[in-house]
Amino acid sequence: MAQLERANFGSKLGIILATAGSAVGLGNVWRFPYMAGENGGAVFIILYVICVLLLGLPCMISEFIIGRHARSNTARAYRKMSNGGPWTVIGYLSVLTGFLITGYYAVVSGWCLQYIYASLLGRLHGDPQYIRQYFSTFSTDAWKPVLWTVIILVMTHVIVRHGIRDGIERASKMLMPTLFILLLVIVVASCLLPGAGAGIEFLFNPDFSKLTPDVFLGALGQSFYSLSIGMGCICTFASYYSRHTNLSNTAIQIGIIDSVVAVLAGLMIFPAAFSVGVSPDSGPSLIFITLPNVFNQAFSTMPIVGYVVALMFYSLLSLAALTSLISLHEVSTAFFQEELHVTRNMAALIVTVSCCLMGTFCSLSLGGVESLSFLGKTLFDIFDFVTGQVFLPLCGFFTCLFVGWFMPHKVVRDEFTNNGTLRGRFFSVYLFFIKYVCPLFILLIFMHQFGVI
Ligand code: PFF
Repeated sequence: MAQLERANFGSKLGIILATAGSAVGLGNVWRFPYMAGENGGAVFIILYVICVLLLGLPCMISEFIIGRHARSNTARAYRKMSNGGPWTVIGYLSVLTGFLITGYYAVVSGWCLQYIYASLLGRLHGDPQYIRQYFSTFSTDAWKPVLWTVIILVMTHVIVRHGIRDGIERASKMLMPTLFILLLVIVVASCLLPGAGAGIEFLFNPDFSKLTPDVFLGALGQSFYSLSIGMGCICTFASYYSRHTNLSNTAIQIGIIDSVVAVLAGLMIFPAAFSVGVSPDSGPSLIFITLPNVFNQAFSTMPIVGYVVALMFYSLLSLAALTSLISLHEVSTAFFQEELHVTRNMAALIVTVSCCLMGTFCSLSLGGVESLSFLGKTLFDIFDFVTGQVFLPLCGFFTCLFVGWFMPHKVVRDEFTNNGTLRGRFFSVYLFFIKYVCPLFILLIFMHQFGVI
């Protein structure tokens, strides 16, 4: 009975936009450009696209299969399908990973909101020293970042509590097109700057001498993070897909949208940065320190254009963060709703309140509350490290093994082909990748992160 009552997305477009909303996030607009910048530009992009196609998509299809087959939250999905066996742990670990990420992802998302506010008031004007000082004063402040974290979590809450169709699907249909429009306008403004050609060339003219195992593993890790794999999001969303959704086509469409947005983000940042001779930095400093300087310098003769571009950029960033945050929030909301048998409202409230607390501690750990640092690392860094570099690859690895080796092939094939109504020409290729190739490569990223290889 419960199966019949479960919510569903209302349309194919809703499915694509909501899932793409999860994938397109800070990872695309912030992490991808600086990873590309540090790892040889065009070569990194080529490898990234290969990783998305050959490794990311099979993993995404696997999460789709688990979610849609079980039609329940990720923890219950693994429990159901393994009859309560040890695989259940992976389901719980995925939900936990999604839950922990929500806390610190909300902090950075809150910074983006503050920067909309600051650009609106024209506070991002000044010399590079002032911009750097502005960021460090703000991010280490005791209450302002916490306030913005709470605000973005409340916005997420309002959307998620309205459910799948009226909340998540409807919001994605408004937010994603707005995001694309903003992105395209800034790309055009950036590419029209004098000297922008060097940035474009850096992005599209590969120098294969830069190809190293490090670059490859960086691209692989980025593709998993960017596709939201290994954190229960994809699996949870797929539990709301219809039986007629073509899973492999959907994965391909999400992969294309996600990669296009990442490349466009590069096209937004590199031409502007190259036009003023600034090299794109890594970490938070790229979007919160380097870029305000780039906008100020690049548009110094037309300050009003710089003002509008900065405002649009931080709005875009906040939208991307919000759509990802919605999917992260949904992982835990679905979990609490189904496991504690509470209403959706109550489940969403539990998640929002606990993430506000988590976010508060993460944020305060950056602001000099020394007791929130351990072994020289802030709570924020610890969350980032444990979820992104330990839990995520672990969940991804075991998900591949679960679908490739544990689930009956008939069940996997039936999901892949919608019970034989699709031809499923690539099923055997998919199975080969999920059994052998993907686990092997995820293991490599894992070992690389710990310096074993
Ligand atoms: N894919 C998102 C990004 O690129 O920013 C981040 C993310 C969202 C990761 C949701 C994981 C997740 F479950």
